[in-house]
Amino acid sequence: MSRRILVTSALPNANGPIHLGHVLEQIQTDIWVRFQRMRGHQAIYVCADDTHGTATMIKAEQEGVTAEALVESMRQLHVADSQGFLINHDNYYSTHSPENQLYAELIYTRLQEAGLIFNEQVEQLYDPEKGLFLADRFVVGGCPRCKTPDQYGDNCEACGATYNANELIEPKSIFSGATPELRGSDHYFFDLARYTEFLKTWTRGDAVQTEIANKLSEWLDDGLRAWDISRDAPYFGFTIPGTTDKYFYVWMDAPIGYMASFQNLCDRRDDLNFDDFWAPDSSAEVHHFIGKDIVNFHALFWPAVLDGANFRTPTKVHAHGFLTVDGTKMSKSRGTFILAKTYLEHLNPEYLRYYYAAKLNGSVDDLDLNLEDFAARVNSDLVGKVVNIASRTAGFLVKQFDGVLAEHVHDPELMNQFHAQVEPIAALFEQGDTAKAMREITSLADAANQYIAKHEPWNMAKDPEQRDAVQLVCSQGINMFRCLAVFLKPVLPSTAEKAEAFLNTPPLTWSDAEAPLLGHTINKFKPMLQRIETSQIEKMIEASKVPDTQPAEAPAAKAAAATGDSDVIGIDDFMKIQLKVARIIDAQPVEGADKLLQLTLDVGDHQRQVFSGIKAAYQAEDLVNRLTVVVANLAPRKMRFGVSEGMVLAAGPGGSDIFLLSPDSGAEPGMDVK
Ligand code: 2FM
Ligand code: ZN
Repeated sequence: MSRRILVTSALPNANGPIHLGHVLEQIQTDIWVRFQRMRGHQAIYVCADDTHGTATMIKAEQEGVTAEALVESMRQLHVADSQGFLINHDNYYSTHSPENQLYAELIYTRLQEAGLIFNEQVEQLYDPEKGLFLADRFVVGGCPRCKTPDQYGDNCEACGATYNANELIEPKSIFSGATPELRGSDHYFFDLARYTEFLKTWTRGDAVQTEIANKLSEWLDDGLRAWDISRDAPYFGFTIPGTTDKYFYVWMDAPIGYMASFQNLCDRRDDLNFDDFWAPDSSAEVHHFIGKDIVNFHALFWPAVLDGANFRTPTKVHAHGFLTVDGTKMSKSRGTFILAKTYLEHLNPEYLRYYYAAKLNGSVDDLDLNLEDFAARVNSDLVGKVVNIASRTAGFLVKQFDGVLAEHVHDPELMNQFHAQVEPIAALFEQGDTAKAMREITSLADAANQYIAKHEPWNMAKDPEQRDAVQLVCSQGINMFRCLAVFLKPVLPSTAEKAEAFLNTPPLTWSDAEAPLLGHTINKFKPMLQRIETSQIEKMIEASKVPDTQPAEAPAAKAAAATGDSDVIGIDDFMKIQLKVARIIDAQPVEGADKLLQLTLDVGDHQRQVFSGIKAAYQAEDLVNRLTVVVANLAPRKMRFGVSEGMVLAAGPGGSDIFLLSPDSGAEPGMDVK
């Protein structure tokens, strides 16, 4: 029976580009969706950008654009990246949309009517300069345990301690450098505690993987606490009905974005009806693909909110593990923090689709992209084994038989091995164990290649008496290839299209692998997939390398990090930077700072004070009278030791090797640097 299935992957944050970790999840989802469609089911795949929150607001401010403009430009970049990886979304929308506001308000109102919302005072750190309540990650200070400076608000990178941001030594706001103060404010809570028993039952059904259910039961056994769903102004988001300065917390309206994206699609498609999928008695399915880090939002808060607001709960939450590259966390300095866009500039998306498929097994284990193994697997399995079957046999059929396949099967036993895998491989796709599916497929490809090698059609073709045998063997080769093309189509949609053109057939569906083509005419074989060259991977890594930054000397560096990946700037951003020549007229060490010098600069028509981390390279007195380049229009920053009015540019690997402008460069203070 045909199923109606709504499928989502997690909504990427709108404050940065997507990377190969996001791509892992979208590929996993897309393979599952394409598989379902090939089985004849209605599978609708929606996604969106997750737009709200302080990080978006600050990022927009840093870029001098409105939050609305920022999220729309980011959405377009994300759509382009997803399309580059052949992700077949039916809709890619935004949580900053009228549909999302409507459903967020509707859900909230229903929860309120059900008595599931209450108010409570919350004490939170507040940045008095910026006029902003600070989430823990927006506060830095010394670790209360090991005293390491510059740690984020809730945990210490040096000793691993976890604490509350207000326990930090000399806490500072990453936005202004100001010392935060504790302030009380009224927050809105969803009474999640009332859902503890409901969720114990729900998570023990088949909606989540067993390993996830086990993890969740640790929280459930302790009993759940109410969930704080509001944030104070200023915030980029939707105001809570009945208030003017309280906003829905970004995690409240983010999953509602799944509904909003679907509603937006329904409005454009006559065959889709929102209630068919979301009403409490819906017979359709809803599947969410997510990373294991956000399982509490999807398998605790979300089903509880849905039930409380009289909507159906998800059929299944499919969680995957984290992506590592070459065995470790993705790293900008090693060039393994690879953006989707950078990958696409160097490599074919299907290589990665195949490699991820070959590694995903439906568990929450982390997945390693080993770049050497990646090239080896793609070259050996896809180019060397699968495509090779067609390229070794097609030529004889086209040249000697006008492309017409034999009327009967040469080795029925072998052919049946392929047909017999139709349901077992389907079951593996259904469970998300594409790793095992890919192993079955390559083992079938091995059997096909052995068959061809055994019969050597290239030798038989020399003997006119073996003419029929050549047609039979090569036809069987094509039919075995065709089955593999069916099984691989969810993973390799573009190669499958080329295979369909070559096989001269309509788009392949899953049941096409149940029987061979007999007496059918195929087209000339054209190469379908090239080998990966190691140099392509090397170039991608080179292009992804970002040098290690100096240890963060100021909260501002943390602000950039906390609001997304802002490593890449466009020419418009660059043109905003005003560079001027300056003469250092005084340089003094800064008491209590190992790396800093306090410089007084002559910028032609005025003087400025700048703190610069170049003490390891220069004696203060040697700098006097030297020329340097200064970022003249950098907003003054309040640092621990005073206000810094600009930034001195120097070149070099860091530490003691940092170079200023040559003293005899002929430059004059105040000159623009072009
Ligand atoms: O973790 C994240 O990147 C979130 N933006 C995911 C949101 S998924 C859904 F709830 F919207
Ligand atoms: Zn510590």
